[in-house]
Amino acid sequence: MDEVGLVGLGAIGAGAHLQALLRSKRLRLVAVAEPDPVRRAAVALPDRVARRQTLEELLGEDSIRGVVLATPPWVTPGLVVAAARAGRFVLAEKPIATDPTAAGSYDRLSADEMGRIQVGLTYRHDPAIRRLREMITDGELGGPLLVRAHIYDEVRTDDAGHADLIERTLAAGPPVIHEGAHVLDWLAYLLDAEPTVRDAWSLRTRQDLPADNLIGARLGFGEHLALVEFGWLTDGLPRVELTLTGDRGTAVLDGQTFAISLTTRAGSEPITFAGDRSSRCFDLQLERFADLICGGRAEPDLAAGRAALRWSAAIATAAKERS
Ligand SMILES: NC(=O)c1ccc[n+]([C@@H]2O[C@H](COP(=O)([O-])OP(=O)(O)OC[C@H]3O[C@@H](n4cnc5c(N)ncnc54)[C@H](O)[C@@H]3O)[C@@H](O)[C@H]2O)c1
Repeated sequence: MDEVGLVGLGAIGAGAHLQALLRSKRLRLVAVAEPDPVRRAAVALPDRVARRQTLEELLGEDSIRGVVLATPPWVTPGLVVAAARAGRFVLAEKPIATDPTAAGSYDRLSADEMGRIQVGLTYRHDPAIRRLREMITDGELGGPLLVRAHIYDEVRTDDAGHADLIERTLAAGPPVIHEGAHVLDWLAYLLDAEPTVRDAWSLRTRQDLPADNLIGARLGFGEHLALVEFGWLTDGLPRVELTLTGDRGTAVLDGQTFAISLTTRAGSEPITFAGDRSSRCFDLQLERFADLICGGRAEPDLAAGRAALRWSAAIATAAKERS
């Protein structure tokens, strides 16, 4: 089994990547790195897993072939570059930077180093996304399609630590920068086209927030039209869902479970998949990472991560210009 390390033991590092790594039959977690001593000590680990403070310490271990970076986007680019330059394979959380300018630091890498980087666009791997793509390519929904994506993921919370994290993340860019990475990646894959921003808007529901917390856009994807909305930090938020409507039917993807409801002239059909969405996707993502370490191609690769960031930033810029 190839030995790997995990960097960042925050919400998603400790909450999802760690469990996926411990479940993996192909990768062996041998070390974690986390600068926060409380987080580093708090996480339960098998005895074989060393606790370190920095990525540099992990890179000093010759046996470690790959690292999973579950770090904030303002930190991730420097760590990705250091790990790739040290000859390691990297699975880096999205967004891979806070904006396209910051992502320019990846230009310093050689093609070979870039080829060792997989981006954590985790839900791209889900069978529900593949099933939706089949519906579109097989013409089950007809076309052109109207897509509505409602991504409202972070309700205001009394948990001061989490509220602080989300406000700091908001200060680094509106919700589309963070959630849009996933959604625009799915839409480009589903609709087989790149988006163009036709219109965008944003709204700040509380003046003490560091940036607008609700944001949306009207996008063209070739012949298709997508209305996308992203929002955080209100006491109540709309449902998270993706709806695709064409002349022959409508498919609704539940954003929490990834269950699909398909309605055509023949009636309504629920389509569900085994296991919970998060474990399923993080396990599949890690399988792709194991493939990459074994000589496969990065999927999704750095170019996909940069494209998702570029499209998200284009929405943020258009919204700012119009507000
Ligand atoms: N793929 C997904 O489904 C998904 C879900 C949630 C979050 N994310 C992304 O994951 C990233 C992390 O999010 P989070 O919610 O876990 O944040 P978090 O703040 O809870 O955790 C980040 C951790 O990284 C650590 N860290 C910071 N600088 C570091 C450094 N230089 N070296 C090592 N560790 C360092 C922090 O101490 C912290 O423990 C974000 O980019 C977020 O958008 C992805």
